[in-house]
Amino acid sequence: MVIRPAVAEDHAAIDAVVAAAFAQREEAELVSALRADGDALLELVAEEDGAVVGHILFSPLGTDNGRKLAALAPLSVQPGRQKDGLGTALMQEGHRRLAAMGTEAVIVLGHPAYYPRVGYSAALAKTVAAPFAGPHFMALELVPGALAEFVSITYAKAFGL
Ligand SMILES: CC(C)(COP(=O)(O)OP(=O)(O)OC[C@H]1O[C@@H](n2cnc3c(N)ncnc32)[C@H](O)[C@@H]1OP(=O)(O)O)[C@@H](O)C(=O)NCCC(=O)NCCS
Repeated sequence: MVIRPAVAEDHAAIDAVVAAAFAQREEAELVSALRADGDALLELVAEEDGAVVGHILFSPLGTDNGRKLAALAPLSVQPGRQKDGLGTALMQEGHRRLAAMGTEAVIVLGHPAYYPRVGYSAALAKTVAAPFAGPHFMALELVPGALAEFVSITYAKAFGL
């Protein structure tokens, strides 16, 4: 298994994996819209035997304090290849690359039992004003202290928020 940046030739395979993982088209269409708007800050795929079996996309967030933040969404692993560490590997490689690109923290809206495995915390997101709050709204600092001050964020246009 290799984790690598997505290229244009992967787009059809990514579309199929995202739609299969979520059992609906909404998230696959979100991926296309984020790309079309130039908001795919970082897109990685997990490839096995030449086939795309996982995908992750990070988009830029607007901030009112100059911090460089990103949103993780969506994360998809092909049914049949789930629970084998691919989702974790995609997030960890994504975080490594984002840190190298200067991103200071990542925000996710997701399952509170899953994302803390790679360091996300709802407590860390308490300083972040967004259309979301509560236990599903979590954050990960790539630069320690990046979320110490209050920040108001805006999502990329394709999220329709
Ligand atoms: C959620 C998802 C990305 C996880 O990817 P994955 O490769 O299966 O996850 P990993 O192998 O890294 O981790 C597996 C562990 O996470 C747990 N897990 C997976 N999905 C979970 C969820 N929604 N809630 C809680 N725990 C979850 C598994 O039970 C497993 O736990 P274990 O190691 O104790 O057995 C994948 O299941 C998926 O594509 N799901 C459908 C789409 C989706 O819901 N995406 C996330 C929202 S953006």
